[in-house]
Amino acid sequence: MSLPDPGGTVVITGIGELVTCDGSGDAGLGLRTGAAVVVEDGRIAWIGDSAAAPDADRRVDLEGRAVSPGFVDSHSHLVFDGDRSAEFAARMTGERYDGGGIGVSVAATRAASDDRLRELVGQRVREMRDQGTTTVEIKSGYGLTVEDEARSLSIASEFTTETTFLGAHVVPPEARGERAAYLDLVTGPMLEACAPYAKWADVFCEPNSPHAFTEDESRAVLAAAREAGLGLRVHGNQLGHGPGVQLAVELGAASVDHCTYLSDADIDALVGSAATTVATLLPGVEFSTRSPYPDARKLLDAGVSIALATDCNPGTCYSSSMPFVIALAVREMGMTPGEAVWAATAGSAKALRRNDIGRVAVGGPADLAVLDAPSHLHLAYRAGVPIARAVSETRGVPSSS
Ligand code: NIG
Ligand code: FE
Repeated sequence: MSLPDPGGTVVITGIGELVTCDGSGDAGLGLRTGAAVVVEDGRIAWIGDSAAAPDADRRVDLEGRAVSPGFVDSHSHLVFDGDRSAEFAARMTGERYDGGGIGVSVAATRAASDDRLRELVGQRVREMRDQGTTTVEIKSGYGLTVEDEARSLSIASEFTTETTFLGAHVVPPEARGERAAYLDLVTGPMLEACAPYAKWADVFCEPNSPHAFTEDESRAVLAAAREAGLGLRVHGNQLGHGPGVQLAVELGAASVDHCTYLSDADIDALVGSAATTVATLLPGVEFSTRSPYPDARKLLDAGVSIALATDCNPGTCYSSSMPFVIALAVREMGMTPGEAVWAATAGSAKALRRNDIGRVAVGGPADLAVLDAPSHLHLAYRAGVPIARAVSETRGVPSSS
């Protein structure tokens, strides 16, 4: 199914189940049956009972398929070249992940031309779209020079407005032993060159990795980014207990991502800041690094605000599939299918401080996922089966349907 040309209207009927995420009912999914949706100029113009649907230029009958908000993938690292499948294979036989492999992707990314990187990002965004994702956040972090970080973000910004500066991903190999100088670069000239292309800044706050950043280093990076007008995000508590969550809460970051290892004090902090800071869970990472899954059930019951995202990257999770993440969240982290769909749409929109996406509402963009299935339950039930597809245009990427 494709949406109308600019200026045209289409009425979508035969929707087996419409997931609106309007906050009502089970998990806030706002389920409707027998509904129709009218789309005009890429926006939702009308939602109501199918029998009362107004005329439009075109009618599309979905023959009982479910429709949900397009997935919002609020955490990805799509700008990279190179292959690290051998690192994955080694982990499956017991090797631990410590972030050291990032240097391999940095070398390959620096060596790639702009056109090559653009092509790779385009392929990955198209892959996401073909699995129901309509918004993606893209980080830099495999350039780690002023020029390579700026071009990574410039290319990312051709595909999304949700771009994130991650110059503080690791200390690059050539700067080892010169941490302070590298941090001066990140918080000075690199930030200055990248800020025009970035909406957010992120840091890999992880004292458990020799390659990543300590609490104080991370605080300095985030303070400089905030000063430059960027919103804040944090990679925290991925490899062990640590300061990432508390730092994110202290600085009012929009999201702290991973949250694999949480203490009771971390959970209390996230509950207290649920209106401001979302805990973004990335279960594809636990899958691909053989790590323990965080207990999402416990977090939800405590009152933590939760989002789900892929973290699509060459090291810890080379999957672009939000349905895969939803299935893992249900099977491994104690979320209901409804809670997982909410966290992959409205929840991840909140992690990007957006309320125009992640729901199906009149006046909002027609960012929809159509499921080859009668209900959202099938996203987890039919794990691994490609039932979800985005029907809106993802900026910069031609529709393949
Ligand atoms: O979110 N942890 C830091 N960054 C990525 C992995 C990067 C890589 O290994 O290439 C993550 O897991
Ligand atoms: Fe990440």
